[in-house]
Amino acid sequence: MIVNSLSLCYHNKLILAPMVRVGTLPMRLLALDYGADIVYCEELIDLKMLQCKRVVNEVLSTVDFVAPDDRVVFRTCEREQNRVVFQMGTSDAERALAVARLVENDVAGIDVNMGCPKEYSTKGGMGAALLSDPDKIEKILSTLVKGTHRPVTCKIRILPSLEDTLNLVKRIERTGISAIAVHGRNREERPQHPVSCEVIRAIAETLSIPVIANGGSHDHIQQHLDIEDFRQATAASSVMVARAAMWNPSIFLKDGLRPLEEVMQKYIRYAVQYDNHYTNTKYCLCQMLREQLESPQGRLLHAAQSSQEICEAFGLGAFYEETIRELDARRADLLAKTPEGVEEPAEDTSGIIKMAIRFDRRAYPPQITPKMCLLEWCRREKLPQPVYETVQRPVDRMFCSVVTVAEQKYQSTLWDKSKKLAEQTAAIVCLRSQGLPEGRLGEESPSLNKRKREAPDQDPGGPRVQEPALPGEKCKKPFVTLGTSEDNLLEGC
Ligand SMILES: Cc1cc2nc3c(=O)[nH]c(=O)nc-3n(C[C@H](O)[C@H](O)[C@H](O)COP(=O)(O)O)c2cc1C
Repeated sequence: MIVNSLSLCYHNKLILAPMVRVGTLPMRLLALDYGADIVYCEELIDLKMLQCKRVVNEVLSTVDFVAPDDRVVFRTCEREQNRVVFQMGTSDAERALAVARLVENDVAGIDVNMGCPKEYSTKGGMGAALLSDPDKIEKILSTLVKGTHRPVTCKIRILPSLEDTLNLVKRIERTGISAIAVHGRNREERPQHPVSCEVIRAIAETLSIPVIANGGSHDHIQQHLDIEDFRQATAASSVMVARAAMWNPSIFLKDGLRPLEEVMQKYIRYAVQYDNHYTNTKYCLCQMLREQLESPQGRLLHAAQSSQEICEAFGLGAFYEETIRELDARRADLLAKTPEGVEEPAEDTSGIIKMAIRFDRRAYPPQITPKMCLLEWCRREKLPQPVYETVQRPVDRMFCSVVTVAEQKYQSTLWDKSKKLAEQTAAIVCLRSQGLPEGRLGEESPSLNKRKREAPDQDPGGPRVQEPALPGEKCKKPFVTLGTSEDNLLEGC
């Protein structure tokens, strides 16, 4: 048996609970700042993780686990390396071990979620479904304990009977896990039901491993001192806090809660520094604002469609600009040092029409994108569909797309954060260099308005400002040879 030599101690700890969407890097760092000892990531599903590649992001100084569609599924950094517990959703021991091995060098502990009562989890045999399959629990946990050098834990809910609960936790303890988190409600109970401190206490008195009490937000934990009261009421080693920390992560601060405005500003700073997706940032801020969502600030937040707009809503516009400048400078530095970074994205660039352009979603109505305009135009002109070829450069994982229309290639000289954005940008270069309407606000586009909207683009955290278009290279095979009129074009878009 492999000894978990790099052990995280679970005694007497304040812990940020795993929370889907909430427990991303900015929240975890903020919780650590305020005094949490251990922070759990949101539950991540084994199958999804197994599709991910581990990528060192030198611009952000993070380690990213990136899905094939280039979404960052899990982002972590050195600051939390000894404190972050990776929680997975799994129903299979081999898959669980493969995930543990994928992340173990970047995290402090591995946890299995056995408490989620939601159907999407239980119907795959994960979460609370595991509670009725102790053989599977045993297999998953013992495989993990033997196979990873990080401490393994699990998070459970209680069973309807105390006897069954105690039998289950004793069996779990025998797998060799390092600690167990107990949410003191059964799988049928909702957050408004009272948490069973007595059952957690009975578990803590039965087991030798540390028991982490959970479920106390709202009824028990409203301020920092309540955390210790909850620990005593449950006789647990440690306390794990979810909702109270989601509402205000300064709950971990010994000196008492900090004003929400200050907390949210700190949160936003981390979100920008670590390039958190704006929709996730917005979600977490909405959880903090709660009943103030109708306030002027709440309304600004609600309307925000990018990280920049979120920053502006909280008076952090200058901070945003400065941070983006720093990140751009770091990126440029890295590119200068990396030979492949300065290479052109396409093998043969000689005949490509280029402009320094980025796609700014805000400049377009929700239903319209440049790609749609280009496609529509090609259809009307009986041209083959535009063909997009996208490359990603290794140094910063940015994308550049080349679109071919009527045998002419078009690309932007600026790189984008996602394949989708890069394609939109290439489409703009094509449309703009040919003087075609591109669907921007203010342009007439009757027929496209009726079309179904494309899947939303991954927000880059800001194509900050629309870059001024530079004149394109001389067009070698311009569309105009195909005979178009502005009227026809407008009809098409
Ligand atoms: C927004 C949200 C997301 C959650 N996501 C997870 C999760 O990913 N994994 C998990 O084990 N529990 C999850 N939970 C449950 C919490 O970790 C915790 O067990 C529950 O909220 C009770 O703790 P509390 O009273 O401190 O809120 C989530 C809870 C909330 C409110």
